[in-house]
Amino acid sequence: MPFPEQRLRRLRRTESLRALVRETRVEPHDLIYPLFCVSGHGIRDEVASMPGISRFSADLLAAEAKEVHALGIAGVILFGIPDRKDPEGSGAWDPDGVVQVAIRAIKDAVPDLVVIADLCLCEYTDHGHCGVLDRGDVDNDATLPLLARAGISQARAGADIVAPSDMMDGRVGSLRRGLDAEGFESTPILSYAAKYASAFYGPFRDAAESTPSEGDRRGYQMDPANAREALREIAADIEEGADLVMVKPALPYLDVIAQARELFAEPVFAYQVSGEFSMLRAAIERGWLDEERAVSESLTAIRRAGADRIVSYFALEFARRYHG
Ligand code: PBG
Repeated sequence: MPFPEQRLRRLRRTESLRALVRETRVEPHDLIYPLFCVSGHGIRDEVASMPGISRFSADLLAAEAKEVHALGIAGVILFGIPDRKDPEGSGAWDPDGVVQVAIRAIKDAVPDLVVIADLCLCEYTDHGHCGVLDRGDVDNDATLPLLARAGISQARAGADIVAPSDMMDGRVGSLRRGLDAEGFESTPILSYAAKYASAFYGPFRDAAESTPSEGDRRGYQMDPANAREALREIAADIEEGADLVMVKPALPYLDVIAQARELFAEPVFAYQVSGEFSMLRAAIERGWLDEERAVSESLTAIRRAGADRIVSYFALEFARRYHG
């Protein structure tokens, strides 16, 4: 039925009609909030390149986590910034390490909030790479047992889900075997399966003090030009035992999210990364974008592409506004 009988504007006439036919919604429970943990007491230290986002000591994290839970946000994902770093990243498996302490504090304060532990060595190595170095190159196979050790220690501290983000080959299988051998066969793995070597991680590296001192991550993170390769990465991680998979960044990779959703039955998460946050935040601060509309449109687009849940630095303010 062509125009003039067919008029698509009919269903856009009022907000109630638009709501009636709206295909995609974003609610607080679709979101996961990232938290940066530091040692000490009473510390709340705003990240210069991420206005509104802070690094917290464990005591203040617990309070933040309470609000996150009360607002109905699905969970938190934790990143640790240790006081000391070394070539192996041994702070990552320290039972009293910064993330382990934070996990215990949050689980004590809000037992029902899902706590996901980001698993990587880059915040803990003095050279800033995601694995151990062998003559300047990240040694894949030598890194695997260290990652498994760190993941086990996060599970032991009480993490509900462990989330490897290092992009070593074989790390999901090795982590699964390690967790199972230590009695954590019920701890799920959320794999950052399709993680691109992205310029949009800039502000995060500021927050986590994890910029590589030499070289970059293109030898292990994915080339932004490749989409089919992402599907191979996801298939490989699922084969190795990933329970959930993630695409990262989100908005520049909606095609990858959509294809992943189409091809796999596992939950597909997307990570709206620090650079995506800071770009919007900067334009909002200048008055160039409307905050509420820009944040909601970007999250809606990521959900529309097929992401089941979104890790987002906007989660808290979105949820606050959602509840009025
Ligand atoms: C750790 C890790 C990074 C991010 C999440 N986990 C940094 C990186 O790979 O450089 C980026 C998150 C963000 O930019 O918000 N490997």
